Amino acid sequence: MKFLEEKKGVIDDSIRKYLPEKMDEQYIEWLLGKPSYEYTTKAIQKALSDPIWDFLNRGGKRWRPALFMLFTEALGGDLKKVADFTATLELLHEGSIMVDDIEDSSDLRRGKPCTHKIFGEDVAINAGNFMYFLAFFPLIKNRGNFSEKTLLRAWETVLEETTRIHYGQASDIAWHKGMADADGIKESEYLQMCAYKTGVLARLSARLAVILNDGSEKLEEKLGKFSESIGVGFQIQDDIMNIAPTEGWGKETGDDINEGKRTLLVIHALKNSDDSSKKRLIEILEMHTKDKALIEEAIEIIKKSGAVEYAKEFARNMVRDAWEEVEPLIPENDAKEKLKAFADFMVEREI
Ligand code: IPE
Ligand code: IPE
Ligand code: MG
Ligand code: MG
Repeated sequence: MKFLEEKKGVIDDSIRKYLPEKMDEQYIEWLLGKPSYEYTTKAIQKALSDPIWDFLNRGGKRWRPALFMLFTEALGGDLKKVADFTATLELLHEGSIMVDDIEDSSDLRRGKPCTHKIFGEDVAINAGNFMYFLAFFPLIKNRGNFSEKTLLRAWETVLEETTRIHYGQASDIAWHKGMADADGIKESEYLQMCAYKTGVLARLSARLAVILNDGSEKLEEKLGKFSESIGVGFQIQDDIMNIAPTEGWGKETGDDINEGKRTLLVIHALKNSDDSSKKRLIEILEMHTKDKALIEEAIEIIKKSGAVEYAKEFARNMVRDAWEEVEPLIPENDAKEKLKAFADFMVEREI
Protein backbone atom coordinates (compact mmCIF):
# COMPACT_ATOMS: atom_id res chain seq x y z
CA MET A 1 0.00 0.00 0.00
CA LYS A 2 2.90 2.33 0.80
CA PHE A 3 4.41 1.64 -2.60
CA LEU A 4 1.10 2.43 -4.32
CA GLU A 5 0.77 5.63 -2.27
CA GLU A 6 4.25 6.75 -3.39
CA LYS A 7 3.42 6.32 -7.08
CA LYS A 8 0.08 8.11 -6.95
CA GLY A 9 1.52 11.63 -7.38
CA VAL A 10 3.25 10.91 -10.68
CA ILE A 11 0.21 9.05 -12.00
CA ASP A 12 -2.26 11.79 -11.09
CA ASP A 13 0.00 14.50 -12.51
CA SER A 14 0.08 12.62 -15.81
CA ILE A 15 -3.70 12.28 -15.81
CA ARG A 16 -4.03 15.99 -15.00
CA LYS A 17 -1.88 16.84 -18.03
CA TYR A 18 -4.38 15.05 -20.30
CA LEU A 19 -7.47 15.97 -18.30
CA PRO A 20 -7.12 19.03 -16.04
CA GLU A 21 -9.46 19.50 -13.10
CA LYS A 22 -10.26 22.95 -14.48
CA MET A 23 -10.82 23.01 -18.23
CA ASP A 24 -9.70 26.02 -20.24
CA GLU A 25 -9.46 26.81 -23.92
CA GLN A 26 -5.72 26.59 -23.98
CA TYR A 27 -5.89 22.98 -22.83
CA ILE A 28 -8.59 22.02 -25.34
CA GLU A 29 -6.55 23.57 -28.14
CA TRP A 30 -3.47 21.70 -26.96
CA LEU A 31 -5.39 18.45 -27.07
CA LEU A 32 -7.59 18.91 -30.12
CA GLY A 33 -6.33 21.92 -32.06
CA LYS A 34 -8.14 25.11 -33.01
CA PRO A 35 -11.96 25.01 -32.91
CA SER A 36 -13.92 25.13 -36.15
CA TYR A 37 -16.19 27.73 -34.48
CA GLU A 38 -15.82 28.31 -30.75
CA TYR A 39 -15.03 26.10 -27.77
CA THR A 40 -17.25 26.20 -24.71
CA THR A 41 -15.50 25.16 -21.55
CA LYS A 42 -18.44 25.21 -19.13
CA ALA A 43 -20.35 22.27 -20.65
CA ILE A 44 -17.19 20.21 -20.96
CA GLN A 45 -16.21 21.05 -17.39
CA LYS A 46 -19.62 19.93 -16.07
CA ALA A 47 -20.06 16.79 -18.14
CA LEU A 48 -16.46 15.54 -18.35
CA SER A 49 -13.96 17.00 -15.94
CA ASP A 50 -16.22 17.27 -12.87
CA PRO A 51 -17.63 13.72 -12.93
CA ILE A 52 -14.29 12.18 -13.83
CA TRP A 53 -12.36 14.02 -11.12
CA ASP A 54 -15.10 13.31 -8.61
CA PHE A 55 -14.45 9.65 -9.44
CA LEU A 56 -10.64 9.89 -9.41
CA ASN A 57 -10.49 11.91 -6.20
CA ARG A 58 -12.43 9.25 -4.26
CA GLY A 59 -9.38 7.06 -4.31
CA GLY A 60 -8.66 3.97 -6.31
CA LYS A 61 -5.44 2.06 -5.96
CA ARG A 62 -3.85 3.09 -9.29
CA TRP A 63 -2.19 -0.34 -9.35
CA ARG A 64 -2.10 -0.79 -13.12
CA PRO A 65 0.12 2.25 -13.79
CA ALA A 66 2.12 1.49 -10.62
CA LEU A 67 2.78 -1.98 -12.02
CA PHE A 68 3.83 -0.45 -15.33
CA MET A 69 6.34 1.74 -13.46
CA LEU A 70 7.63 -1.28 -11.61
CA PHE A 71 8.18 -3.23 -14.84
CA THR A 72 9.90 -0.18 -16.31
CA GLU A 73 12.22 0.04 -13.31
CA ALA A 74 12.90 -3.69 -13.33
CA LEU A 75 13.93 -3.46 -17.00
CA GLY A 76 16.22 -0.50 -16.31
CA GLY A 77 13.98 1.95 -18.21
CA ASP A 78 13.65 5.73 -17.79
CA LEU A 79 10.60 6.49 -15.62
CA LYS A 80 10.49 10.17 -16.61
CA LYS A 81 10.42 9.34 -20.29
CA VAL A 82 7.41 7.03 -19.94
CA ALA A 83 5.49 8.92 -17.24
CA ASP A 84 2.67 10.03 -19.60
CA PHE A 85 1.75 6.41 -20.24
CA THR A 86 0.71 5.95 -16.63
CA ALA A 87 -2.30 8.07 -17.67
CA THR A 88 -3.03 5.61 -20.51
CA LEU A 89 -3.29 2.69 -18.10
CA GLU A 90 -5.31 4.47 -15.43
CA LEU A 91 -7.72 6.15 -17.86
CA LEU A 92 -8.52 2.81 -19.51
CA HIS A 93 -9.27 1.35 -16.09
CA GLU A 94 -11.33 4.32 -14.88
CA GLY A 95 -13.32 4.40 -18.12
CA SER A 96 -14.01 0.70 -17.93
CA ILE A 97 -15.30 0.73 -14.34
CA MET A 98 -17.45 3.82 -14.84
CA VAL A 99 -19.27 2.06 -17.68
CA ASP A 100 -19.14 -1.32 -15.92
CA ASP A 101 -21.13 0.09 -13.00
CA ILE A 102 -23.97 0.91 -15.39
CA GLU A 103 -23.75 -2.51 -17.06
CA ASP A 104 -23.80 -4.23 -13.66
CA SER A 105 -26.51 -1.99 -12.11
CA SER A 106 -24.11 -1.24 -9.25
CA ASP A 107 -24.84 1.35 -6.57
CA LEU A 108 -21.52 1.89 -4.83
CA ARG A 109 -17.96 2.44 -6.01
CA ARG A 110 -15.10 3.45 -3.75
CA GLY A 111 -17.54 3.92 -0.88
CA LYS A 112 -19.76 6.42 -2.73
CA PRO A 113 -22.69 6.26 -5.15
CA CYS A 114 -21.50 5.31 -8.66
CA THR A 115 -21.03 8.14 -11.17
CA HIS A 116 -24.25 7.35 -13.04
CA LYS A 117 -26.16 7.55 -9.77
CA ILE A 118 -24.90 11.09 -9.17
CA PHE A 119 -24.52 12.58 -12.65
CA GLY A 120 -26.85 10.37 -14.72
CA GLU A 121 -26.26 7.54 -17.17
CA ASP A 122 -25.83 9.90 -20.13
CA VAL A 123 -22.94 11.70 -18.45
CA ALA A 124 -21.34 8.50 -17.12
CA ILE A 125 -21.43 6.63 -20.45
CA ASN A 126 -19.98 9.57 -22.32
CA ALA A 127 -17.31 10.29 -19.70
CA GLY A 128 -16.35 6.61 -19.58
CA ASN A 129 -16.02 6.40 -23.35
CA PHE A 130 -14.10 9.66 -23.42
CA MET A 131 -11.52 8.20 -21.02
CA TYR A 132 -11.01 5.25 -23.37
CA PHE A 133 -10.13 7.53 -26.26
CA LEU A 134 -8.17 10.03 -24.18
CA ALA A 135 -5.98 7.12 -23.08
CA PHE A 136 -4.50 7.03 -26.58
CA PHE A 137 -3.31 10.64 -26.51
CA PRO A 138 0.03 10.00 -24.78
CA LEU A 139 0.90 8.05 -27.95
CA ILE A 140 0.19 11.13 -30.05
CA LYS A 141 1.81 13.65 -27.72
CA ASN A 142 5.02 11.61 -27.40
CA ARG A 143 5.74 11.43 -31.10
CA GLY A 144 9.11 13.13 -30.75
CA ASN A 145 10.24 10.98 -27.82
CA PHE A 146 10.13 7.48 -29.32
CA SER A 147 10.81 5.98 -32.73
CA GLU A 148 7.86 5.52 -35.10
CA LYS A 149 8.38 1.79 -34.91
CA THR A 150 8.11 1.78 -31.13
CA LEU A 151 5.03 3.97 -31.19
CA LEU A 152 3.32 1.82 -33.80
CA ARG A 153 4.01 -1.26 -31.68
CA ALA A 154 2.53 0.57 -28.68
CA TRP A 155 -0.57 1.69 -30.64
CA GLU A 156 -1.25 -1.84 -31.79
CA THR A 157 -0.88 -3.19 -28.28
CA VAL A 158 -3.14 -0.64 -26.62
CA LEU A 159 -5.79 -1.21 -29.29
CA GLU A 160 -5.56 -4.98 -29.01
CA GLU A 161 -5.88 -5.06 -25.20
CA THR A 162 -8.66 -2.45 -25.14
CA THR A 163 -10.67 -4.58 -27.57
CA ARG A 164 -10.08 -7.66 -25.43
CA ILE A 165 -11.64 -5.96 -22.39
CA HIS A 166 -14.91 -5.81 -24.30
CA TYR A 167 -14.75 -9.50 -25.16
CA GLY A 168 -14.38 -10.21 -21.45
CA GLN A 169 -17.21 -7.92 -20.49
CA ALA A 170 -19.38 -9.51 -23.18
CA SER A 171 -18.94 -13.00 -21.67
CA ASP A 172 -19.54 -11.74 -18.15
CA ILE A 173 -22.68 -9.88 -19.21
CA ALA A 174 -24.04 -12.72 -21.36
CA TRP A 175 -23.60 -15.19 -18.50
CA HIS A 176 -25.11 -13.08 -15.75
CA LYS A 177 -28.02 -12.15 -17.99
CA GLY A 178 -28.76 -15.78 -18.78
CA MET A 179 -28.06 -15.30 -22.49
CA ALA A 180 -25.50 -18.09 -22.87
CA ASP A 181 -25.74 -21.33 -20.87
CA ALA A 182 -24.35 -19.84 -17.68
CA ASP A 183 -24.78 -23.00 -15.60
CA GLY A 184 -22.50 -25.09 -17.74
CA ILE A 185 -19.51 -22.74 -17.69
CA LYS A 186 -16.17 -24.48 -17.31
CA GLU A 187 -13.39 -23.14 -15.12
CA SER A 188 -11.26 -22.53 -18.18
CA GLU A 189 -14.01 -20.42 -19.74
CA TYR A 190 -14.35 -18.39 -16.55
CA LEU A 191 -10.58 -17.89 -16.43
CA GLN A 192 -10.52 -16.70 -20.05
CA MET A 193 -13.27 -14.22 -19.27
CA CYS A 194 -11.20 -12.91 -16.35
CA ALA A 195 -8.06 -12.80 -18.46
CA TYR A 196 -9.96 -10.61 -20.89
CA LYS A 197 -11.87 -8.34 -18.56
CA THR A 198 -9.25 -7.87 -15.83
CA GLY A 199 -6.04 -9.54 -16.96
CA VAL A 200 -5.62 -7.38 -20.03
CA LEU A 201 -4.83 -4.10 -18.31
CA ALA A 202 -2.21 -5.86 -16.23
CA ARG A 203 -0.89 -7.43 -19.44
CA LEU A 204 -0.82 -4.03 -21.05
CA SER A 205 1.19 -2.64 -18.10
CA ALA A 206 3.90 -5.21 -18.79
CA ARG A 207 3.76 -5.10 -22.58
CA LEU A 208 3.93 -1.30 -22.74
CA ALA A 209 6.87 -1.23 -20.32
CA VAL A 210 8.77 -3.66 -22.55
CA ILE A 211 7.82 -1.92 -25.81
CA LEU A 212 8.70 1.62 -24.65
CA ASN A 213 12.02 0.23 -23.44
CA ASP A 214 12.58 -1.40 -26.86
CA GLY A 215 12.56 -4.92 -25.40
CA SER A 216 12.13 -8.08 -27.47
CA GLU A 217 8.81 -9.56 -28.53
CA LYS A 218 9.62 -12.67 -26.55
CA LEU A 219 10.08 -10.66 -23.34
CA GLU A 220 6.88 -8.76 -24.10
CA GLU A 221 4.99 -12.02 -24.46
CA LYS A 222 6.44 -13.64 -21.30
CA LEU A 223 6.06 -10.65 -18.99
CA GLY A 224 2.63 -10.00 -20.48
CA LYS A 225 1.51 -13.50 -19.58
CA PHE A 226 2.90 -13.23 -16.04
CA SER A 227 1.16 -9.93 -15.54
CA GLU A 228 -2.10 -11.32 -16.90
CA SER A 229 -1.93 -14.00 -14.20
CA ILE A 230 -1.54 -11.29 -11.57
CA GLY A 231 -4.68 -9.67 -12.99
CA VAL A 232 -6.65 -12.91 -12.96
CA GLY A 233 -5.48 -13.64 -9.39
CA PHE A 234 -6.56 -10.14 -8.45
CA GLN A 235 -10.03 -10.75 -9.93
CA ILE A 236 -10.40 -14.02 -8.04
CA GLN A 237 -9.51 -12.24 -4.80
CA ASP A 238 -12.02 -9.54 -5.74
CA ASP A 239 -14.72 -12.18 -6.18
CA ILE A 240 -13.85 -13.62 -2.76
CA MET A 241 -14.05 -10.23 -1.06
CA ASN A 242 -17.40 -9.66 -2.70
CA ILE A 243 -18.93 -12.42 -0.58
CA ALA A 244 -16.52 -12.25 2.36
CA PRO A 245 -15.77 -8.53 2.62
CA THR A 246 -12.98 -7.00 4.65
CA GLU A 247 -13.07 -3.64 6.38
CA GLY A 248 -12.75 -0.79 3.89
CA TRP A 249 -14.28 -2.72 1.00
CA GLY A 250 -15.94 0.05 -1.00
CA LYS A 251 -18.51 -1.99 -2.89
CA GLU A 252 -21.81 -3.59 -1.94
CA THR A 253 -21.40 -6.99 -0.22
CA GLY A 254 -22.82 -9.78 -2.33
CA ASP A 255 -23.62 -7.65 -5.35
CA ASP A 256 -22.08 -10.41 -7.48
CA ILE A 257 -24.99 -12.58 -6.26
CA ASN A 258 -27.49 -9.89 -7.09
CA GLU A 259 -25.96 -9.57 -10.55
CA GLY A 260 -26.07 -13.36 -10.98
CA LYS A 261 -22.30 -13.50 -11.64
CA ARG A 262 -20.72 -16.83 -12.49
CA THR A 263 -17.48 -16.53 -10.53
CA LEU A 264 -14.92 -19.23 -9.80
CA LEU A 265 -16.64 -19.54 -6.41
CA VAL A 266 -20.01 -20.21 -7.99
CA ILE A 267 -18.59 -22.68 -10.51
CA HIS A 268 -16.93 -24.57 -7.66
CA ALA A 269 -20.08 -24.50 -5.54
CA LEU A 270 -22.20 -25.82 -8.41
CA LYS A 271 -19.80 -28.72 -8.81
CA ASN A 272 -19.48 -29.50 -5.10
CA SER A 273 -22.90 -29.08 -3.50
CA ASP A 274 -25.83 -31.47 -3.14
CA ASP A 275 -28.59 -31.24 -5.71
CA SER A 276 -30.97 -29.14 -3.64
CA SER A 277 -28.28 -26.54 -2.69
CA LYS A 278 -27.19 -26.40 -6.30
CA LYS A 279 -30.72 -25.82 -7.49
CA ARG A 280 -31.30 -23.17 -4.84
CA LEU A 281 -28.08 -21.33 -5.70
CA ILE A 282 -29.03 -21.13 -9.37
CA GLU A 283 -32.52 -20.02 -8.39
CA ILE A 284 -31.21 -17.13 -6.26
CA LEU A 285 -28.64 -16.09 -8.89
CA GLU A 286 -31.40 -15.94 -11.47
CA MET A 287 -33.62 -13.78 -9.27
CA HIS A 288 -31.22 -10.81 -9.47
CA THR A 289 -32.41 -9.94 -6.01
CA LYS A 290 -31.24 -7.28 -3.55
CA ASP A 291 -32.94 -9.12 -0.68
CA LYS A 292 -30.28 -9.46 2.02
CA ALA A 293 -31.59 -12.76 3.41
CA LEU A 294 -31.54 -14.42 -0.03
CA ILE A 295 -28.08 -13.08 -0.80
CA GLU A 296 -26.88 -14.42 2.55
CA GLU A 297 -28.43 -17.82 1.78
CA ALA A 298 -26.54 -18.00 -1.53
CA ILE A 299 -23.31 -16.94 0.17
CA GLU A 300 -23.78 -19.70 2.74
CA ILE A 301 -24.19 -22.34 0.01
CA ILE A 302 -21.02 -21.08 -1.67
CA LYS A 303 -19.03 -21.02 1.56
CA LYS A 304 -20.24 -24.47 2.63
CA SER A 305 -18.89 -25.98 -0.60
CA GLY A 306 -15.35 -24.92 0.36
CA ALA A 307 -15.23 -22.53 -2.61
CA VAL A 308 -13.50 -19.68 -0.75
CA GLU A 309 -10.53 -21.82 0.31
CA TYR A 310 -10.41 -23.41 -3.14
CA ALA A 311 -10.38 -20.07 -4.98
CA LYS A 312 -7.78 -18.58 -2.63
CA GLU A 313 -5.45 -21.52 -3.17
CA PHE A 314 -6.08 -21.42 -6.90
CA ALA A 315 -5.11 -17.74 -7.14
CA ARG A 316 -2.00 -18.22 -5.00
CA ASN A 317 -0.77 -21.17 -7.05
CA MET A 318 -1.43 -19.41 -10.32
CA VAL A 319 0.60 -16.35 -9.36
CA ARG A 320 3.40 -18.48 -7.89
CA ASP A 321 3.71 -20.60 -11.04
CA ALA A 322 3.63 -17.52 -13.27
CA TRP A 323 6.42 -15.91 -11.22
CA GLU A 324 8.61 -18.98 -11.47
CA GLU A 325 8.39 -18.77 -15.27
CA VAL A 326 9.55 -15.17 -15.57
CA GLU A 327 11.89 -14.92 -12.61
CA PRO A 328 15.00 -15.90 -14.65
CA LEU A 329 14.21 -13.28 -17.31
CA ILE A 330 14.34 -10.27 -14.99
CA PRO A 331 17.70 -8.81 -13.95
CA GLU A 332 18.48 -8.87 -10.23
CA ASN A 333 17.59 -5.50 -8.74
CA ASP A 334 15.37 -3.83 -6.12
CA ALA A 335 12.47 -3.49 -8.49
CA LYS A 336 12.50 -7.24 -9.09
CA GLU A 337 11.96 -7.87 -5.36
CA LYS A 338 9.13 -5.36 -5.37
CA LEU A 339 7.57 -7.01 -8.38
CA LYS A 340 7.41 -10.32 -6.56
CA ALA A 341 5.92 -8.65 -3.48
CA PHE A 342 3.43 -6.84 -5.72
CA ALA A 343 2.28 -10.10 -7.31
CA ASP A 344 1.70 -11.62 -3.86
CA PHE A 345 -0.14 -8.51 -2.69
CA MET A 346 -2.58 -8.80 -5.56
CA VAL A 347 -3.91 -12.12 -4.27
CA GLU A 348 -3.51 -11.46 -0.54
CA ARG A 349 -4.88 -7.89 -0.49
CA GLU A 350 -7.80 -6.99 1.69
CA ILE A 351 -8.79 -3.76 -0.08
C1 IPE B 1 -11.93 -2.95 -9.70
O1 IPE B 1 -10.57 -2.71 -9.79
C2 IPE B 1 -12.40 -3.61 -10.94
C3 IPE B 1 -11.92 -4.98 -11.12
C4 IPE B 1 -11.34 -5.35 -12.19
C5 IPE B 1 -12.15 -5.99 -10.10
P1 IPE B 1 -9.73 -2.02 -8.62
O2 IPE B 1 -9.95 -2.74 -7.34
O3 IPE B 1 -8.33 -1.88 -9.09
O4 IPE B 1 -10.38 -0.59 -8.50
P2 IPE B 1 -9.85 0.75 -7.82
O5 IPE B 1 -9.34 1.59 -8.95
O6 IPE B 1 -8.78 0.43 -6.83
O7 IPE B 1 -11.07 1.37 -7.21
C1 IPE C 1 -14.86 -5.14 -13.83
O1 IPE C 1 -15.28 -6.35 -13.43
C2 IPE C 1 -13.95 -5.33 -15.04
C3 IPE C 1 -13.95 -4.20 -15.95
C4 IPE C 1 -14.50 -3.07 -15.71
C5 IPE C 1 -13.26 -4.37 -17.22
P1 IPE C 1 -16.38 -6.52 -12.30
O2 IPE C 1 -17.69 -6.00 -12.74
O3 IPE C 1 -16.31 -7.94 -11.88
O4 IPE C 1 -15.75 -5.63 -11.14
P2 IPE C 1 -16.46 -4.80 -9.97
O5 IPE C 1 -16.93 -5.82 -9.00
O6 IPE C 1 -17.59 -4.03 -10.58
O7 IPE C 1 -15.39 -3.92 -9.44
MG1 MG D 1 -18.97 -4.54 -11.93
MG1 MG E 1 -18.77 -6.21 -14.57
